Amino acid sequence: MQILKDIESLQQWLSEIKKQQKTIGFVPTMGALHEGHLALIKASKKQNDYTLCSIFINPTQFNNSEDLARYPRTEQKDSQMLQNVQCDALFMPQAQEIYPNQNVLQLSFGYLETLMEGKFRPGHFAGVGLIVSKLFHLVQPQRAYFGQKDLQQCAVIQCLVQELNFPLEVIICPTIREPNGLAMSSRNQRLSEEAQQKATQIYQTLLNIQILIEQQQNPLEQQHLTPILKHLTQNDITIEYLEIVDAQTLLSLEYPYPKQITIAVCIAAYLEEVRLIDNILFKH
Ligand code: PAF
Repeated sequence: MQILKDIESLQQWLSEIKKQQKTIGFVPTMGALHEGHLALIKASKKQNDYTLCSIFINPTQFNNSEDLARYPRTEQKDSQMLQNVQCDALFMPQAQEIYPNQNVLQLSFGYLETLMEGKFRPGHFAGVGLIVSKLFHLVQPQRAYFGQKDLQQCAVIQCLVQELNFPLEVIICPTIREPNGLAMSSRNQRLSEEAQQKATQIYQTLLNIQILIEQQQNPLEQQHLTPILKHLTQNDITIEYLEIVDAQTLLSLEYPYPKQITIAVCIAAYLEEVRLIDNILFKH
């Protein structure tokens, strides 16, 4: 695997591939890789001639400097994992090169920034949009891969690609879970073993809500919601938001939920001061 530490070496590597008119699949990450990321690499390898992964802990998408400082950094292990799945190249630029100046450009994603993640992490999607645009311009891939766990990020990136005419296809891959159901996330590494077990109740809650919806019930009604929240509290989980939305628009749905559309149940919660998100999608 080629390790490309700056833009110049990235461009040299790309120029060879472009000469041969080969396709590039791109998996942008912030490192601390897990099976979820590897599933994106594997999907890209199936669909493209070459796969490039980037690791860049993007400062502009953190609205909390402590969260940025505590973000896990496991470069050695990451590059070994990528090597094991035969990723072709790893781009690991320095922040200095990506953001040489204080940036002035501000991207805004309109209503998408007023909901869920956008509401609780002001400025987060502006930062994601900026780094993903920069990376798309630098790499110019045919396809780019993202995980469904970050559902709202996927919507923001699809909006970016559509509205700015990036000539690439966005591929959303299913959430990869631990055998106990916990959605894989780089942040799980910060949880104690006991908390990793308790965190499985987040996914369990999503499944219970799906069952209620399938039984034509309103999960947000007090008689259902109170025991759901109580159970989470008993597991030391504090909910930040719990939303039932249209998976396409991410707009909140009112009960009775319309038929034929894909529903997304989305959750953000804290456990041991670690912020976790998860979601499930289904038709009913
Ligand atoms: O999902 C992530 O890891 C990041 O938000 C991304 C897309 C790599 C941008 O920094």
